Amino acid sequence: MAKSSVAPKVLTELNRQLNHELGAAHAYQALSIWCAARNFTGFAAFFAKQAGEERDHAGKMIAHVLDRGAAPELAALPAPPSDQASLLDVALQAQSMELANTRGIHAVYEAALAEKDYPAQVLMHWFISEQVEEEAWCDEMIDRVKGASCAGSLSDLDRHIGRHLAGDGK
Ligand code: FEO
Repeated sequence: MAKSSVAPKVLTELNRQLNHELGAAHAYQALSIWCAARNFTGFAAFFAKQAGEERDHAGKMIAHVLDRGAAPELAALPAPPSDQASLLDVALQAQSMELANTRGIHAVYEAALAEKDYPAQVLMHWFISEQVEEEAWCDEMIDRVKGASCAGSLSDLDRHIGRHLAGDGK
């Protein structure tokens, strides 16, 4: 393998973050299962799609590291929580995960700035914008779940949430 062009501190951050993205995929899959087990099929589909997006995010970082002559290292994934008491708990967990993810992305970017690693900075620009969208849908989901005051309105929300939050505007 050619000598890596990624500064060691940036490589450490990218490795940490790509594993974090894989952990987020695992955790979204768990939220999808929680929802499917309670017949919230719209939410289940939405979280399954999110799990796929997180894997794609990890894939972008893995490709970047490989393209620059280094080998990404995968870590063990922690078991995600599955004891949420309500759909609101699920939505709050998604938000807390995205806020943590934003902090992680910013940490990679700060390392790339400090090391004058321009390619990693440009890669992180995409992720920084993506996190603005991810935090926005979390806020929207929490507002909508809080606004669904009875089982019937939660079911209505479930029927529409997957398509709505996926950006189909329905
Ligand atoms: Fe990889 Fe939810 O951001």
